[in-house]
Amino acid sequence: MSRHISISLVCVALLAACDGGPENKNVWSDKTAPTFKHVAGLVADMTHEEKITLVHGSFPKLMPNRPADVIIAAGHVPGIPRLGIPPLRETDASLGVSNTTNSRVDDVATPLPSGLMLAATWDPQIAFAGGAMIGNEARAKRFNMMLAGGVNLGRELRNGRLFEYLGEDPLLAGALAGEHVRGIQSNGILSTIKHFALNDQETGRRVLNVKIDEAAARESDLLAFQIAIERGKPASIMTAYNRVRGDFASENDWLLNKVLKGDWGFRGWVMSDWGNVHSAAKAANAGLDQESGEEVDVIFNKQVFFNDQLKAAIQNNEVSQDRLNDMVTRYLTALVASGIYDRPEEGLKEIDYTANATVAQREAEHGIVLLRNERNALPLSTPKTIAIIGGHADVGVLSGGGSSQVRPVGGPALIIKAAGPGASFVERLYHPSSPLKALQAAFPGATITYNDGTDLISATELAKGADAAVVFAEEWRAEARDAASLSLPDNQDALIAAVAAVNKQTVVVLETGGPVLMPWLHSVQAVLAAWYPGARGGEAIAGVIAGTVNPSGRLPITFPASEAQLPRPVLDGLAAVMANTDKDHDTSNEQVPFEVDYDIEGADVGYKWFASKNLKPLFPFGYGLSYNTFDYGNLRVTGGETVTATIEVRNIGARAGIATPQFYAMLPVRGAPTVRLIGWERVALAPGESKEITITADPRLLAAFDAGWKIAAGDVAVSVGEFAGDSKLTASATLAERTIKP
Ligand code: BGC
Repeated sequence: MSRHISISLVCVALLAACDGGPENKNVWSDKTAPTFKHVAGLVADMTHEEKITLVHGSFPKLMPNRPADVIIAAGHVPGIPRLGIPPLRETDASLGVSNTTNSRVDDVATPLPSGLMLAATWDPQIAFAGGAMIGNEARAKRFNMMLAGGVNLGRELRNGRLFEYLGEDPLLAGALAGEHVRGIQSNGILSTIKHFALNDQETGRRVLNVKIDEAAARESDLLAFQIAIERGKPASIMTAYNRVRGDFASENDWLLNKVLKGDWGFRGWVMSDWGNVHSAAKAANAGLDQESGEEVDVIFNKQVFFNDQLKAAIQNNEVSQDRLNDMVTRYLTALVASGIYDRPEEGLKEIDYTANATVAQREAEHGIVLLRNERNALPLSTPKTIAIIGGHADVGVLSGGGSSQVRPVGGPALIIKAAGPGASFVERLYHPSSPLKALQAAFPGATITYNDGTDLISATELAKGADAAVVFAEEWRAEARDAASLSLPDNQDALIAAVAAVNKQTVVVLETGGPVLMPWLHSVQAVLAAWYPGARGGEAIAGVIAGTVNPSGRLPITFPASEAQLPRPVLDGLAAVMANTDKDHDTSNEQVPFEVDYDIEGADVGYKWFASKNLKPLFPFGYGLSYNTFDYGNLRVTGGETVTATIEVRNIGARAGIATPQFYAMLPVRGAPTVRLIGWERVALAPGESKEITITADPRLLAAFDAGWKIAAGDVAVSVGEFAGDSKLTASATLAERTIKP
């Protein structure tokens, strides 16, 4: 392997360390030159026009005179054949190679479970494996970039895209997003991490301004990005639609220049979201490196900014030539360092969809969370008759809508057309993995019948005579529309209550985009959170119900007892949602600016808010049952520069299972007692087996942000348990005073 390639690989792993270097004309043709010289040579040889070509991309569907080799997908940046620069072929997203509303007719791919379900696995290896799988499919379909890595925190539980993201904790979300992106990029292709930052609701996403104090932002949403970027080393960061502290994220000097490129030393390139640019000079000077999907900017913002407007701004000295060179250098460094620059353009490759479905199934099996299991109702033991009710469980499993929508292998089991203004862009699609068929296979001796649940009388009639009733309850979410409330829609609460009233063995399987309220909780025997479970979701659900899979998922997000418990009991911008009489409303295109006040909870997102207000949720963050129990003991904690904690976990049940001991620190932050997840481990244990595990906290989790990460000298309490607020074991350690760079 040439020296150039090996240095390139080092640069991929350390994109942050690949410097622009001195200008060196013509080095680009020397394939043995280190990446930085190579890129500097390329930039030195480019015309002004060629540089501009690389800083604005298209949305192929709307591209005028679209060349034949452009794939109809999320984005395309043309190449420069004269310099051997290949085009950038971008596809969404984190859950697989998407094909929103079937734009590439019948181009199918393997759909992973939702991001929240991945987060519920708490498993970095599963995150990597999913990323590696979808990245492999993307490359086999000739894409060289995935617009993946959504890591916006779950501040707003009604967020229409909550299902794409990874929950409410910066460490959990950041670690898993990082591993997922590392998996994608292990295929020699590129990935984003998005949407930077604080795009935590869809309603009014193009106009709202997020109000948040710097320390609060750094300790919450920004920390999730920081950890994800450190772990995943993405080639690019995609900006958020909204404003943050006054400026749009795409032209936010503080976010892009100060935090991302300055404090964090990010050396990749910053791309806009689609239809998300508002200026040329301001955005370029604030750190935006590339305008994406310019045709969408023409729709929403009436113009393309990083073409003629940017040229004019450079001409007028509003933007420097150096800045343009920096934009192009950042982009080309990623192409060269990843090997994309040197690879001849590839053809379509075979994909082993059967093998890939097992990756999705494993993720689903580990991400299902058993929330309730009265008198060990599950696994069902030898039922003779099972009534399956609702959720289209006869044909498939639900998925989330919008740009992340994958067209599944085998074709959708069912599509329900969405109505409303965003309807051309979203559809309610069911993946062809029927829970009914999977349950029939899992219980070959049982009579299993289905009722669609729309008629309470026939549903309860069926449930009445059965040994067990399994109700599939669903809640569809999609990009560009938030949920108006956390209640299950379409009278499903009444359906569950009615079934539970006639069948004492009622199991509820939730296929939802996030937490939902459960007024019927105490009348049912068992509840499974099955999120949107992807390509083999039906099989994973059946495995848990039959007991071939011992549930091990843990909630990555708090389930509140009521919306009154939330920092914002009413969704900001809800008036716009309600003004639309259509139930399927696109609320992302609101025109009237408004403010969302994240200073209400500050850094106390999710379980931290519940702890600070002494509120009891319906199910806490980290919660999840298993078919057996674990014993925790022998906690030892040491302090100093950070906290290191060791415990012993023992499986005291009769089955093999996975324990997820979670370590929380309790420390004063700006005078207020604050709880933070500082580590966890997934421990697979055979019956009777025990293991010792040790975690070392990222010291930033023990700090308050104040220009840097400041750790105060003093005691910190560490508790270990099975969910936030569970202090099975507690000990304390003494920290030394310390400041860490931002
Ligand atoms: C979404 C992005 C996506 C882009 C391209 C936007 O609407 O916010 O997440 O990557 O479209 O499809």
